[in-house]
Amino acid sequence: MKATANAGSNIAFVKYWGVRKGPRDRQLPLNSSVSMTLDVARTTTTVEFASDLKTDRCTINSRPAPPEAIQRVRRVMSRVRQLAGLNQFARIASVNHFPTAAGVASSASGFAALALAATRAAGLREDPKTLVPLAILGSGSACRSLYGGYVLWSPPRAGRQGASVRQIKSEDHWPLVDLVAILNRKRKPVTSEQGHRQAWTSPLLEGRLASLARVARTVKKAIHERDLPSLGDAVESEALCMHAVMMTSRPSLLYWDAATVAVIKAVRALRIRRGLPCYFTIDAGPNVHVITAPEQAEAVTRALKRIDGVQEILCCSTGRGAYYTNAPLF
Ligand code: DP6
Repeated sequence: MKATANAGSNIAFVKYWGVRKGPRDRQLPLNSSVSMTLDVARTTTTVEFASDLKTDRCTINSRPAPPEAIQRVRRVMSRVRQLAGLNQFARIASVNHFPTAAGVASSASGFAALALAATRAAGLREDPKTLVPLAILGSGSACRSLYGGYVLWSPPRAGRQGASVRQIKSEDHWPLVDLVAILNRKRKPVTSEQGHRQAWTSPLLEGRLASLARVARTVKKAIHERDLPSLGDAVESEALCMHAVMMTSRPSLLYWDAATVAVIKAVRALRIRRGLPCYFTIDAGPNVHVITAPEQAEAVTRALKRIDGVQEILCCSTGRGAYYTNAPLF
């Protein structure tokens, strides 16, 4: 009745942005997404069902989880109880092994680890059919963190049920580096959950969705061929396309800070002036992920550290998928 799992965060090359309309579809993505699982930015989670509890109890980094996280955790745990026919609540502890207090999305690694640990603690089948929907109930992008390396998440086809998540290539196929420029550690003012729901209000959404199949093909081909310039070019323009939808949604979502623009410009200059193959991408926040090859990571890190507003550089590589450990947190 007790299990512990570990999972890495991930960075999307083709981003998941927007959910289908309708209350029952609120977690069905509008588009397929492709990501790379990260090694350093990881979460460990222990789940134990216990008869003395009146509700699920959850700590993150040894502190009570904030209400928004608790709500998502309970959504996952209720489904686990339903599937397993259990009526006990659970004690849950989660620790983020990020060298920084915040600033990097921990929901992907956190909910992938929770789905894996809760499934085993409840005695459920540990297969993708169980794990993927449980991870998505916590956070959409978490389903990609169940797998290592390069991962594709496709929404269900018309008339079919259930999303599909699969590994495109393993972490050994192509080790890349993601240098996360931490600019701001504050919690984002508008959650992704809210942003996904309002994507429809952007006049640019239709154009984005129409172009994504081509972008996803380019990204997958570049991964297969280990072609960093092609990957980087597609990843940058895709990130800008998603942010254009965010900015033109109602209400408008502008996640960037002044330093976000400074990093974008610096990355472009590093490429043009110094010939360094490095490319930016940005999730729902101000921090910038800079994708580069391991051989260039040091030079790019040094340049990024000099930019005004950059507080820290978190250096991640392509990582493995979620796994069980024998080292419980309590
Ligand atoms: C911009 O997975 O955080 O990072 O399902 O509401 O938890 P919820 O959303 P979330 O959305 C991720 C959005 C993104 C792009 C991506 O990772 O694909």
